[in-house]
Amino acid sequence: MDQTLFFILLLTALCSVSECVQRQYHFINERKNWTEAQRYCREKYTDLATVDNMNDMNELNKSVNDRSVQFVWIGLQKTGRDEWQWSSGEPALYLNWATGQPEGRDDCGMMTSGQFHDMACSYNRPFICNNTNTGLVLGNQTMNWTDAQSYCRQNHIDLVSVRNQNENQQVEQFINERQLSGSWVWIGLFRDSWQWSDQSDSSFRYWYTGQPDNYNYGEDCTSVELNTQGRWNDVSCTNQYPFVCHEDKLVLIKENLTWSEALSYCRQNHVDLVSVHSEEIQRGVMNVVKRASTAAVWLGLHNYCSMNMWLWVSGEIVCYHNWAPGNGTTRENCKLEKRKGAVQSGGDQRWISLPESHRLNFICRKKEVCAATHTVRSHRRRRERQNSLWPRCQQRCAKIH
Ligand SMILES: *[C@@H]1O[C@H](CO)[C@@H](O)[C@H](O)[C@H]1NC(C)=O
Ligand SMILES: *[C@@H]1O[C@H](CO)[C@@H](O)[C@H](O)[C@H]1NC(C)=O
Ligand SMILES: *[C@@H]1O[C@H](CO)[C@@H](O)[C@H](O)[C@H]1NC(C)=O
Ligand SMILES: *[C@@H]1O[C@H](CO)[C@@H](O)[C@H](O)[C@H]1NC(C)=O
Ligand SMILES: *[C@@H]1O[C@H](CO)[C@@H](O)[C@H](O)[C@H]1NC(C)=O
Repeated sequence: MDQTLFFILLLTALCSVSECVQRQYHFINERKNWTEAQRYCREKYTDLATVDNMNDMNELNKSVNDRSVQFVWIGLQKTGRDEWQWSSGEPALYLNWATGQPEGRDDCGMMTSGQFHDMACSYNRPFICNNTNTGLVLGNQTMNWTDAQSYCRQNHIDLVSVRNQNENQQVEQFINERQLSGSWVWIGLFRDSWQWSDQSDSSFRYWYTGQPDNYNYGEDCTSVELNTQGRWNDVSCTNQYPFVCHEDKLVLIKENLTWSEALSYCRQNHVDLVSVHSEEIQRGVMNVVKRASTAAVWLGLHNYCSMNMWLWVSGEIVCYHNWAPGNGTTRENCKLEKRKGAVQSGGDQRWISLPESHRLNFICRKKEVCAATHTVRSHRRRRERQNSLWPRCQQRCAKIH
């Protein structure tokens, strides 16, 4: 391709990064009990709605386009399992319990002397929030765990997660620097026995104050109350409500193909190999790759040798990235074999560079994940706007790095 044209396409493609939805919500305005609603969603879409974060919650609320509806089902149901999780929505893989902990009576987690203890959620304690810009922040007063979580979500991002030894040290040091060493300080750790219908391990919860309370006993299903800003309530699964399904935009294909074969497969049967240009899409990828049968899974990521650059098949250059150390940065040897990008299916699911002849599972994009369509016409239209857009795109890239 003519290099100038190529660069123009690149620019327009970069600038067209727009609304990318991982998950689309579909509101079904028919009253069904929870199990019937689940069956309906599994037949027509992916499953009853899963919610990963506040963004999802807003999207879900928006999807309910009938203002007279008060309650809708989502896919959260009580099970026998009772696992520790992070308030931010991640599974708790690193659990630095003190000796003899958890004692098993309580459902919230705090840190003291750098180690975790379980404690009754109703205690008023200092707490630590995480903020995107400033990092760790001490709560403004003591609160019980639930109020601390609401406070952090309103004023920062969430209660802090402590996901590895490094973060453990950071949080311990933060506590000591604020003369709280030896105190009991809330972190984002909690456990509950609720599970999403699609088996995803999102630990995001948005209960109304005082919920879940199992008020009438056997309240094992979750409704969203639209007149309380979409807060959640536990109710009997036999209630009849309208409901919200979700449709995942990514699909894992458990066949072992070379990168080029995988690309053709996705383009024939779906839309394309997945392009992961945001953390949100990476989260979607992380959800599906767990079920892969190969140690790595192809992404729509290829090395553009003549320019020594990695590009997504959708045309974007790699702004957001999640490379494993040593991958994606060094100059690839183009003379030998073309290299493509894959994501590890285990561990911390980072991206690695592999020769394209490796045979791996892969991820296709089902419909348009991004609203942007890369047709020649839209490229041309965007090219006309590119001069005004370019500085913004540069900023966007700079912010990500
Ligand atoms: C936390 O405190 C609020 C009042 O500020 C109360 O309504 C709520 O029930 C408490 N939660 C727990 C788990 O004790
Ligand atoms: C802390 O923040 C909460 C919620 O924003 C507010 O109600 C409370 O008055 C604040 N406390 C102090 C001591 O500033
Ligand atoms: C804090 O939040 C940021 C942004 O969401 C996240 O990248 C980071 O991992 C979080 N850190 C901790 C310690 O929770
Ligand atoms: C793909 O490869 C993996 C790992 O070698 C193997 O376990 C799996 O059975 C293979 N799948 C197919 C469909 O051949
Ligand atoms: C790429 O990452 C993998 C997994 O961490 C590692 O084994 C490999 O050595 C890295 N490649 C290079 C060139 O460093």
